[in-house]
Amino acid sequence: MRGEVEISGAKNAAVAIIPAALMVNGVCRIENMPQISDTEMLLTILSHLGSKIRYINKSTVEIDSTSVNFSDAPFNLMRKIRASYYLIGAMLGRFGIAKTTMPGGCNFGARPIDQHIKGMEALGANVEVRNGFVYAEANDGRLHGARIYLDKVSVGATMNIILAAVLAQGRTIIENAAREPHIVDLANFLNSMGADIRGAGTDTVKVNGVESLHGGSYSIIPDQIEAGTYMVAAAATCGDVMVKNVIPKHLECITAKLRETGTIVQEYEDCVIVKGTSFVRRANIKTLPYPGFPTDMQPQMAVLLTQANGTSVITEGIYDNRYKYVNELRKMGACIDVDGRVAIIEGGTALTGAPVAACDLRAGAAMVIAGLCAIGRTEIEDVKYIERGYENFVEKLRALGADITAVNLPDMPENQENVNQAG
Ligand code: UD1
Repeated sequence: MRGEVEISGAKNAAVAIIPAALMVNGVCRIENMPQISDTEMLLTILSHLGSKIRYINKSTVEIDSTSVNFSDAPFNLMRKIRASYYLIGAMLGRFGIAKTTMPGGCNFGARPIDQHIKGMEALGANVEVRNGFVYAEANDGRLHGARIYLDKVSVGATMNIILAAVLAQGRTIIENAAREPHIVDLANFLNSMGADIRGAGTDTVKVNGVESLHGGSYSIIPDQIEAGTYMVAAAATCGDVMVKNVIPKHLECITAKLRETGTIVQEYEDCVIVKGTSFVRRANIKTLPYPGFPTDMQPQMAVLLTQANGTSVITEGIYDNRYKYVNELRKMGACIDVDGRVAIIEGGTALTGAPVAACDLRAGAAMVIAGLCAIGRTEIEDVKYIERGYENFVEKLRALGADITAVNLPDMPENQENVNQAG
């Protein structure tokens, strides 16, 4: 692959910022909004709740939630995306009451939301989970600040508690908070609308509740994982790719690991140039919360390591079961043994094209990278997962010289119900 690719706005920031806009009295103008199915679904959910949504151009959207009312949201959409859990915090903040679906079927083992619930309860909400729904209500109409220690470093719980605390009465302190760049982005968005959040990006976040939020403009940060995916794709195909519109600091853990494999990564102010080598060195990876190596880059790196000069070990530090894609890679000739959270990858295997499935969003991206390295033709089904998190994936790859085509098969209609989860 050769050429330049422009990175879109960060999915995991956007899926929290859209629910956050529900709490704003006024027009939020949000730039660098990624056009992916997860954000489209959340915008549809907001418009059902009464928010007015207006696209200014393909990546700028205005959300006016001045006249929203508490009402039932489209639960069929909520069930499809993990990030609908942010509506609990946002609805509690805005209405003092929330009704959402539980984020359903999981891809990487159990993904409970107990820490979200613990946080809401500490802020004075009564939370009940019944028949796949989450009901939450502030005991006296408004939440109250509290000190919350997270038992697990959780991105979702940290952001959800921030959302709920913004319009609460008094000060909330979240300890053992997650530190991902999208948490900082959510806090920056809310602060630019009048919130008072400090410490986002550290393990202690302090939120001083305010009476209301006002409209404003905000630009979402570039997507760390989308950028990382193109970086690995460049490395795995021995390519030379300029990955543009990135924050190199957010990519440091990916850059460092790629350099260990012998890949050349040059960092500039808002882009990185990645040059692959035909001699890929083996490397060990352990996924960890930020600033550790992101679990969302684990499947893509596994593909690169199938091409390395020895045996690599990946240890998954976040999820119990994030190796479903390994069976698909084996169909292409990869030699990978999985034992619990550890995968042992034999390098130097020539991949060959095969019919495979995208098991989830990032696994789907990994299968695409495998297909690009493989000899022969690879057919990937269930690409709807990929569309949840990668804007114009096929077009961007084609512009880099990849031979890839999106196909709509007649027996797989566009609107086919997709109940699995990703992201
Ligand atoms: C977010 C990302 C996802 C990424 C993950 C880890 C979004 C929409 N998704 O997911 O792409 O893979 O961060 O970087 O931003 N946990 C609990 N109880 C809880 C919450 C989490 O036990 O209440 C556990 C999870 O099962 C997991 C770990 O904590 O083992 C981390 O999960 P978390 O950081 O919350 O991930 P998500 O917010 O779901």
